[in-house]
Amino acid sequence: MRRIRGWPATLTEPDLLDAPVVLRPARVSDVKVRRAVMAANDSWLRPLNATDPDAPAGAARANPLVAMARRSPALPYLAVARSQWKGRRGIAFSWVVWYGGQFAGDLTVWHILWGPNRSAEVGYWIDERLTGRGIAPTALAMGADYCFKHTGLHRLEAGIQPENTASRRVVEKLGFRDEGTRTGLVHIDGAWRDHVCYAITAEAAPDGLLHRWRNSLATSRAI
Ligand SMILES: CC(C)(COP(=O)(O)OP(=O)(O)OC[C@H]1O[C@@H](n2cnc3c(N)ncnc32)[C@H](O)[C@@H]1OP(=O)(O)O)[C@@H](O)C(=O)NCCC(=O)NCCS
Repeated sequence: MRRIRGWPATLTEPDLLDAPVVLRPARVSDVKVRRAVMAANDSWLRPLNATDPDAPAGAARANPLVAMARRSPALPYLAVARSQWKGRRGIAFSWVVWYGGQFAGDLTVWHILWGPNRSAEVGYWIDERLTGRGIAPTALAMGADYCFKHTGLHRLEAGIQPENTASRRVVEKLGFRDEGTRTGLVHIDGAWRDHVCYAITAEAAPDGLLHRWRNSLATSRAI
């Protein structure tokens, strides 16, 4: 663990896309809209959700205690407090992504290793109705720059299922390197799934990923 000064951190990119992109640590007031957007995206996101290798399919949904805990009015407060604590302790950084004032998805930096590693994994999703506008690469570039410049992290990894071309494009656009396939890396949607490991280090983008992404967008818009 490591004490992170300046967390919770809100990051704003006002003019790179058609509308501002804001990364903000979750508040209790976000819980309702986040739940509604996740429910609207359920069939799209469910095949990508991690699953418990020991649980029979659907077990978590059938467990009445889990269902009761999820309905508890205390849960949003506990979840937000836990997320803030994790950020301050350098265990995980979680942001909700807003696009033009609209809830758009999540960006999480987790599995953080300090010591001589200073590495972490990234995860993200965007509301399907807002895809194709460059929100995910913008949010990832903002979050990665925060991690490299303000927390002392040195390396970020993204594990992506080979057939998830949309997500592969997100990291490729930012210059993450393809480091090869890790076999049976995560249990997803009921089975062990291979993942392509993409990674980037701080020194590979000395001016930052947002700078790189801005230049690449300017070039493609000029063509
Ligand atoms: C992957 C994901 C985050 C991309 O977000 P995004 O904001 O749409 O990112 P981009 O706008 O840069 O688009 C990335 C690619 O998605 C694809 N794409 C674009 N619009 C799309 C749409 N409406 N529907 C599906 N895919 C689309 C394109 O291949 C695009 O690449 P391109 O710009 O080279 O054409 C989003 O598709 C998502 O949330 N998917 C489900 C969750 C997920 O896969 N998370 C990552 C797990 S590793």
